[in-house]
Amino acid sequence: MRLSKKVVAVAMASMMMVSMTACGNTGSEQTSATPDTKTETTETPAADTADAEQKAEADAADVAETTGEGGMIGVCIYKFDDAFMTTYRNALQEILEGKGYTVTFMDGKNDQAEQNNQINNFIAQGVDALIINPVMTSAADQIIATVKDAGIPTVLINREPTAEQMGVYDKLVYVGCDARQSGTMQGELILDTPNKGDINGDGKISYIMIQGDPENIDAQYRTEFSVKALTDAGMEVVELDLQRGDWDRNKGQEIAQNDLAQFGDEIEVVFCNNDDMAIGALQAIQAAGRTVNEDIYLVGVDALDAALNEVEAGNMTGTVLNDAQGQAEGAVQAMEDLLGGKTFAAGEQSIYVDYVKVTPENVADFK
Ligand code: BGC
Repeated sequence: MRLSKKVVAVAMASMMMVSMTACGNTGSEQTSATPDTKTETTETPAADTADAEQKAEADAADVAETTGEGGMIGVCIYKFDDAFMTTYRNALQEILEGKGYTVTFMDGKNDQAEQNNQINNFIAQGVDALIINPVMTSAADQIIATVKDAGIPTVLINREPTAEQMGVYDKLVYVGCDARQSGTMQGELILDTPNKGDINGDGKISYIMIQGDPENIDAQYRTEFSVKALTDAGMEVVELDLQRGDWDRNKGQEIAQNDLAQFGDEIEVVFCNNDDMAIGALQAIQAAGRTVNEDIYLVGVDALDAALNEVEAGNMTGTVLNDAQGQAEGAVQAMEDLLGGKTFAAGEQSIYVDYVKVTPENVADFK
């Protein structure tokens, strides 16, 4: 049985009213709606009057009926102003809209309180499923309790909670990557250079580490495992500096600029937890008159278009594909599994997409 067009239209009308308010107030939202259905009716949504339990039941019923046929999906992104998450968001939008869903994206503006409100609004609007990129991993317990309470099938992306945190709700899945793998690959990119990162031949690899947001497991693991790959290969390492750049290009530039001024030629390797910071670091490296792959190495993660160009031009030693398209496809697949009634046992709620090393040799394959 299909969800009646009328119910969809009612829900959409309600969503659009809230959307317009939200837009007027915060400008933090992006909505898609199918033009030919949105004007059908303006009845009061049933969800306004139903109690929480009835609503959960009603939603559960709607879910099966609306899969792939115009269901309403709420997507919360930690902040729109993030290069990688913009690529990811665009991929999600294309896939979801291509499948006929009505999708609303909310910009959390890097503010967990704001994102909590957005999640609550989506629940009040009666969305069929949520896709959430949490602002803070530490907020996972609260987010999971909220969606569980409302009975909304939810896919978490990009910021991975622990298996224990997810285990409390069986209509919850995490789709992402195992960040240890990307860190290890960054280390391998350095080990693959002619002098294994030891440019000055003193038997040690001296590096600076430009970290993402240290609260984020991706930042923690990439920082740890990039260096671990070097030491596992028997190399001695010297950490000249480690600073948080919060995934941000300007901060990457500033940190690299200061470190280059302070440590000069001692720096042999610049590790960046993501490409946006690496692009910033590259600006500082070039301004300091240094030449990547000759007197300094530079690696990032993500394979943003800008980074692929720099790898191709020899201005970055390499990067690691953080597969936004693959993760977006995985997230939508997981969401549809949940909508179809599938549940996930504790300990089996993380779905990983592989990272891939990108070097000048294979960069053309990623463009
Ligand atoms: C990406 C970063 C991005 C971060 C956002 C990471 O996986 O590599 O570029 O800023 O996710 O959480």
